[in-house]
Amino acid sequence: MSAIIIVGTQWGDEGKGKATDLLADQVDYVVRYQGGNNAGHTIIVGDTTLKLHLVPSGVMYPDVTPVIGDGVVLDPGVLLEELDGLVAQGIDVSRLKISGNAHLIMPYHREMDAVTERYLGKQKLGTTKRGIGPTYADKAARVGLRVQDLYDMKIFRQKLDAVLREKNAILTRVYNRLPMKAADIETEYAVYAERLQPYICNTMQLLHEGMERGETVLLEGAQGTMLDLDHGTYPFVTSSNPVSGGALSGSGLGPKDITSVIGITKAYVTRVGTGPFPTELFDADGEKIARIGHEFGTTTGRARRVGWFDAVVARYAGRVNGLTEHFLTKLDVLSDFETLKVCRAYEYQGEEYEHFPDDFQTAIHKSTPIYEELPGWKEDITHCERWDDLPDNAKRYVEHLEQLMDVPIRWVSVGPARRQTLERTI
Ligand code: GDP
Ligand code: IMO
Ligand code: MG
Repeated sequence: MSAIIIVGTQWGDEGKGKATDLLADQVDYVVRYQGGNNAGHTIIVGDTTLKLHLVPSGVMYPDVTPVIGDGVVLDPGVLLEELDGLVAQGIDVSRLKISGNAHLIMPYHREMDAVTERYLGKQKLGTTKRGIGPTYADKAARVGLRVQDLYDMKIFRQKLDAVLREKNAILTRVYNRLPMKAADIETEYAVYAERLQPYICNTMQLLHEGMERGETVLLEGAQGTMLDLDHGTYPFVTSSNPVSGGALSGSGLGPKDITSVIGITKAYVTRVGTGPFPTELFDADGEKIARIGHEFGTTTGRARRVGWFDAVVARYAGRVNGLTEHFLTKLDVLSDFETLKVCRAYEYQGEEYEHFPDDFQTAIHKSTPIYEELPGWKEDITHCERWDDLPDNAKRYVEHLEQLMDVPIRWVSVGPARRQTLERTI
């Protein structure tokens, strides 16, 4: 009986899609446990490039059951479009299972996401405008509509009428927008209900029964530790819990089911949207990493901010997620540097910190990274097939990160394709 959690250790886009896809080969279920279509995972298999937002990254394997868990917020129109796209690429999506407990993203959530960002002006979060925050807010306020509500249109309409009264008042009176009509939304969602029906089930029960038969589960987080609602750089975060704790509440598994927690860690750091980022680069090195690493968002196409590797963030992710190992990605992107910088600690108010100071919120804005400089390898590593094939300086870079993080690095990714992954014995 085993369940593995995969979690991003930075601000998202660490390469979770690639790692999940690779490891999905060894499991029976791949479960998305939080977030929604704010996520964007690019997976490359042979000549096929998949861009996934909601569908779990194990969908390519015929023996894997992809599951959208209880903790996800789901935009049905977007999901159906994604499923149609996958079918057009020849992928069988019929095994997909969706939890009836997942919350529905509604048209007013998308609208609220857009208008509140506009109203925040300079203080905006830079959200993906997919309605994620407003949907989770309604979930917490207990006025959300869930996937299971789609299957009793009378209840659906009752709940919708109640919530829309308040939403329309806010949209028209506060934000000067047009009101939305319940009947239009009902008609639209009734069509989604019919198409989604074959996929809906009690996913928590499905997973437990599978595990009782000896089957294995991979829990795939979206976003990353520093975007976690409770543990990230609040308020510049997403509205769910990407950390490993969120994998339990978002799937219905318990702590004793978990056998390992794999941190997906980029060999440098990126961030999309606003918020603090201590090792951010504003120079030619940053531009070079962004260019070679194609650092543009899969979901919004926005340029990602880029910075050197940050061991303070990595240690924090190690603790908050209980990481057992790391999957290091995009090492190949750093191949063309004479030297590489790595942040080993922060300087804050004249003191040195290997872990975030107590006043995390202020400290992360005001800390200066203390860098170490390591020699580069100046050699293409994308063809390497084994750890031993790597140039010595590339090995030294990886070993150094491992030492700084104090959690073993088991996989090293040297390109976007499945086969461009080196496994180490740890
Ligand atoms: P996710 O959101 O964590 O799944 O990451 P994204 O898919 O948004 O962004 C990671 C990008 O890097 C994708 O385009 C991947 O195809 C690509 N990628 C993943 N691993 C590697 C790697 O080791 N090297 C290179 N060059 N690209 C990678
Ligand atoms: P994956 O799964 C990177 C960021 C947004 C914004 C903040 C809040 O591909 O790693 P939201 O729309 O969630 O309310 O926006 O979170 N963000 C991501 N950044 N990768 C993601 O997902 C992200 N999902 C949300 O840019 O700063
Ligand atoms: Mg992404």
